[in-house]
Amino acid sequence: MDLYDSTNNCNSIILIGYMGSGKTSIGKKLSKKINYDFIDLDKEIEKKLNKSISQIFTDLGELEFRKIENIILMKILSLKHQFILSVGGGTPCYYDNMNLILSKSKYSIYLKVPLKILSKRLYLKKEKRPILSNIDSINNMKEFIAKHIFERIPFYEKSNFVIESNRDDDKLVIEKIIEILKQ
Ligand code: S3P
Repeated sequence: MDLYDSTNNCNSIILIGYMGSGKTSIGKKLSKKINYDFIDLDKEIEKKLNKSISQIFTDLGELEFRKIENIILMKILSLKHQFILSVGGGTPCYYDNMNLILSKSKYSIYLKVPLKILSKRLYLKKEKRPILSNIDSINNMKEFIAKHIFERIPFYEKSNFVIESNRDDDKLVIEKIIEILKQ
């Protein structure tokens, strides 16, 4: 794989944001609307290792997961066709992943969702996320996310665009992304 391939696929859309910000659900719906392939980075990792993300964390540990995540991200970013890619909440914050994303696409989009909404959504679905699965109350979830997201925001904010989404309404976010693509 050539990282410095000059045929950069600049029009691909990369969805960035904390866990629970709607990257996967928005990516899937958007792909039907604009007819781009949809790729979910976590799903690709799971397919490659034939294990769930939680199982990978348990068996190999987070550091090994991050290495695999980096390698598969590089492979996807070197694809030649246009696609929508949903990355994991931690992806932009490890290795040189965020700079790599910026160098390969002009449409990196940070989906910014308020803490209160993230905590509520993630508390209901914490089992799927090894980083959150041991948190035992909604207040602790809120406290954890507040600190964790604070460390990650500087990476997320390097994205080319930010879309704030305060409601459970993917449609609005999708409309905003389509507006961005017209620019
Ligand atoms: C992670 C986010 C997850 C997944 C893994 C680690 C993180 O992806 O990659 O559990 O560090 O924020 P989603 O953001 O799609 O849940």
